[in-house]
Amino acid sequence: MFSTARNVACRAATRSLASVQQQQRGFKCAVLGAAGGIGQPLSLLLKINPRVTALSCYDVAPFTPGVGVDLDHCTSNSDCVGYTGDNLKTALTGCDVVVIPAGVPRKPGMTRDDLFNINAGIVKNLVTGCADACPDACILIISNPVNSTVPIAREVLKAKGVYDPKKLMGVTTLDVCRARSFVAKAKGHDVNKVNVPVVGGHAGTTIVPLLSQAEPKVTFTDAERDALTHRIAFGGDEVVKAKDGAGSATLSMGYTGAHFADRVMAGLAGESGVVECMFVESSISEAPFFASRCTLGKGGVETVHDVGAISDYEKKLIADMMPDLVAQAEKGIKWAKENI
Ligand code: NAD
Ligand code: LMR
Repeated sequence: MFSTARNVACRAATRSLASVQQQQRGFKCAVLGAAGGIGQPLSLLLKINPRVTALSCYDVAPFTPGVGVDLDHCTSNSDCVGYTGDNLKTALTGCDVVVIPAGVPRKPGMTRDDLFNINAGIVKNLVTGCADACPDACILIISNPVNSTVPIAREVLKAKGVYDPKKLMGVTTLDVCRARSFVAKAKGHDVNKVNVPVVGGHAGTTIVPLLSQAEPKVTFTDAERDALTHRIAFGGDEVVKAKDGAGSATLSMGYTGAHFADRVMAGLAGESGVVECMFVESSISEAPFFASRCTLGKGGVETVHDVGAISDYEKKLIADMMPDLVAQAEKGIKWAKENI
């Protein structure tokens, strides 16, 4: 009897130790485009993230090894190395999570789709590197136009025979961050207690904040709702205009990219209840890729949640933008099929 009780206690202790060890497991991360406006603050935040034990910073900019040396002097439990040129494979080998902010940003008057011609090729090459060097890694795409670059990444991974829909994610966390900030300010709430899902895609009207699902519950006049919805969807343009030709959001994106990568690692580590909005392959709408809340787990995306109960206003926003969202995915897929 005693022995059985002791065995049960031992097994429970072993299980709980295994679970603690799993949750404390360290991760190797890479940032591709690490010397850029997003890449540098993102790399800094990943360098000091306790979940990260190794960080590779890769960029075509020749000074990227110096960025690595600079970051490596920060006190944290990770080693950081900066790579450039032909060293992509070395940078990526053994990575669990790869975050890609490489590519050109917008200037005033441009849409994200205007970046397609340059960024499509950059994403294709970098994702090809991931397929070769770290085919099991979670790949988090920041490079715009996300609505097209994520479909391109899927085609590259499929062509390489290593595509796992659970591990390819377009980063839309900045839209959620803006929605939380703008709603909190408009209503005088503590932003840390505010949550607002943002669904659809990551370009103009394809960005659909679900204000009807805001937490804590908030009520808006129609005029307030319209203005907030527009500001969230076009928050990127606000930054592009204010930077007046010097690029787009970098610091807020570095911050939200690092947050999103942390949540992906939390899922991989076995934490439960990790839910974030992200742009993934999806069957919850007519679009092949759609941003919605997803539960993250040990294998990446565990569950793609549907949009839930939404207002008629939000239903119309989604219906109206759907042709554009579908077309932007198709554009990426077509380009990939012609260029892989
Ligand atoms: P940036 O010009 O400051 O930095 C981009 C970096 O990418 C540069 O250092 C450049 O050398 C590097 N790069 C270019 N080609 C490369 C390659 N083949 N391999 C490795 N590195 C390469 O631009 P940024 O402001 O950091 O923006 C980067 C991208 O992120 C843009 O496409 C922008 O539109 C996008 N973005 C997305 C979001 C989002 O919410 N998903 C938010 C902000 C910006
Ligand atoms: C953003 O939302 O800030 C980014 O997509 C960058 C941009 O071009 O607006």
